[in-house]
Amino acid sequence: MAKPTTPPASEKPKQSQKPNTPSEPSHVVTPTIEDMAVFCKAKGFVYPNSDIYGGLAGCFDLGHLGVELANNIKQHWWKTFVQSRPDIVGIDGSIINNQKVWKASGHVDCFEDVMVECEKCKHRTRGDHLLEEKLHIHADGLSKDDVTKLIQKNKLTCPLKGCNGVLGEGKQFNLMFYTFAGPSADETTKAYLRPETAQLMFTNFRYVTEHARLKPPFGIAQIGRAFRNEISPRDFLFRCREFEQMEIEYFVHPQKINDCPFLNEVENHTILVWSSEMQEKNQAPKPMTIKDALKQKIILTAWHGYWLAQSHLWFVRLGADPEKFRIRQHLKTEKSHYALDTWDLEYKFPFGWKELQGMANRTDFDLKQHALYSKTDLQLFDEDTKEKFYPHVVAEPSQGVGRAMLVFLFDAYHYDPQRENVVLKLHPKIAPVKVAVLSLVNKLNDEAMDVFNQLKEHVVCAFDKSGSIGRRYARNDEIGTPYCVTIDFDSQGKDVTIRDRDSTKQKRVLRTELVSLVMQLLQGTLRFDQIPGKTL
Ligand code: GLY
Repeated sequence: MAKPTTPPASEKPKQSQKPNTPSEPSHVVTPTIEDMAVFCKAKGFVYPNSDIYGGLAGCFDLGHLGVELANNIKQHWWKTFVQSRPDIVGIDGSIINNQKVWKASGHVDCFEDVMVECEKCKHRTRGDHLLEEKLHIHADGLSKDDVTKLIQKNKLTCPLKGCNGVLGEGKQFNLMFYTFAGPSADETTKAYLRPETAQLMFTNFRYVTEHARLKPPFGIAQIGRAFRNEISPRDFLFRCREFEQMEIEYFVHPQKINDCPFLNEVENHTILVWSSEMQEKNQAPKPMTIKDALKQKIILTAWHGYWLAQSHLWFVRLGADPEKFRIRQHLKTEKSHYALDTWDLEYKFPFGWKELQGMANRTDFDLKQHALYSKTDLQLFDEDTKEKFYPHVVAEPSQGVGRAMLVFLFDAYHYDPQRENVVLKLHPKIAPVKVAVLSLVNKLNDEAMDVFNQLKEHVVCAFDKSGSIGRRYARNDEIGTPYCVTIDFDSQGKDVTIRDRDSTKQKRVLRTELVSLVMQLLQGTLRFDQIPGKTL
């Protein structure tokens, strides 16, 4: 009798072995945000926070795969924008801050959304989002009076199903969370949880510029948690009350805001552009190169163009679909209190085009405010003119880790009708597990464990011995594992098969070459079809 060997990669799990529980959207070809939340929970990426107690709106916990995916995204971002650049350094500031930080920054007075309350059921909702949903207009930044007028004029009622109650007047609602730092709870001990990491780059500005000996142009970067008491958190990881940001404050000399020495790296990069003027004239976004957008004065500064392109490229290089991005300029009404000009990098989510990354030109607003409130000199010294000056934050690439996770998950999610299974085609750099080591039968577990031990020194791998081999391939396809390494009866301690997630093809390779081949595949220096030998 022939010895059993690794079944062909195309082997499908039997119906009864389908890895999805009935509540999972295994049949879903294009997932909605609700499908994605169900998928992420079922596979161990993201759980609703405090779920066993009914949850807490706007808060989520990362599961065993979610934490790896998020860490990979953050590490890649940090490597790209901090460790690989001579002009950017990182910090990691505290989440709870002296209340004066947020008074100076303007957040205590201005970081507000308009809230409307139903007079019948008392449900509270965010005014601008209600207008956007019901009237399909852009309402971000409208005043409470304008929100009230539009609600009354269009006779909008409570959005809760079956309520239809009359909505009261719009009221300002501040989004800051606060606590008390110390053994009393009063105004003197009140301390805010940061709603953005950005201010820590300004409050530490003097130390960081002196100790890291920074001269413009330079950036200070940070990854960390931020908190916003959103009126209506929604769309899964898209709008949360607790989230993680990856932010850069990029400082330039105010006389040199068009002097970007790196522009040539991106000037021919094309992106869909939607300026405030195009929006006001009801014109569709246009694909343009950064060079043209600058020449036509649509993007006003070279630095802003440079950072918008870099942010787009960061996503694309990690496997996101370039066609699903555009840059949209903020209308005058929606700009933050500190911003001179703001562009959002937007992504086409299943629930519409939404902000992925806000990129404001904050000028010298923040440094001047903190200098005024703290009575600290936050100016730099210009060696040429022998004068002090405030550098300008000409661009602030700022994005949420959760939103980036959603982009990569949506673009990776494929339903394969042949496999009757979801295949999560995550870029190997961010895939939570890089290699799954499988033994064909239990008798080969020890040999498979040796291979696992050999690989685990180099990459994140999993050892999976339960279920049929077809089911184990399917399980790994669903969580995005780029390669499965299988030990079968032909292995005999000397070789193994490697299976490619996207093509399901397999190659037999020597164990002595396994680590090197896997590393080359993961780093993208070798394609799967370039591995010598017969494809199985
Ligand atoms: N620092 C900008 C933001 O948090 O959106």
